[in-house]
Amino acid sequence: MPFKSSYKEIFTANKKWIERKLSADPDFFKHLSQEQNPDYLYIGCSDSRVHANEVMGLEPGEVFVHRNIANLVVNNDLNALSVINYAVEYLNVKYIIVCGHYDCGGIRAAMEPRDLGILNPWLRNVRDVYRLHEKELDAITDQRERYNRLVEINVYEQCLNVIKTAEVQKSYMESGYPLVAGWVYDLHDGLLKDLEIDFEKELNRIRKIYDLTKGK
Ligand code: CO
Repeated sequence: MPFKSSYKEIFTANKKWIERKLSADPDFFKHLSQEQNPDYLYIGCSDSRVHANEVMGLEPGEVFVHRNIANLVVNNDLNALSVINYAVEYLNVKYIIVCGHYDCGGIRAAMEPRDLGILNPWLRNVRDVYRLHEKELDAITDQRERYNRLVEINVYEQCLNVIKTAEVQKSYMESGYPLVAGWVYDLHDGLLKDLEIDFEKELNRIRKIYDLTKGK
């Protein structure tokens, strides 16, 4: 595929963007540079077609973002865990959203039985999600449907991983926030689907084994 835009064009586009922002609000950068006060932490896929602010219709400053391949929350991933910690303890976000998307290359790769090199340990997390829900997934005969369902189930499991963190459990007990939500974005029509995860129910279920609200 040819290189579509020259490197320099990015800086020209940047200047045009600044002009647009300033003509709408002369204090745009003044306000933005003072502090950030987002209500949302968005954990999504690195896929170039899914952009948090854009799909949520939010402006800079309104959503704290973490992205990785297949929108995973892995319990020894210092990066994701630091983002969650900062978002909960310092930014006091009201919602943590895990957003997956249909046609996710990471999820598709994890469904294929082959060696993917350095991606193996990362995608193992998705293969483990498959194993946890093997019965439901294997019962879906249409391969595309099964793939879409794994995208949804993966979001659900990553929401549980967020709920398993001490920060989220303790903050929720003290202040009623953050709530955790799971979404799937559809690349074909741009629609966000809320998986309507029952946060209270999942939190109570999780705490039976993963309760971290006591101590420290
Ligand atoms: Co993806």
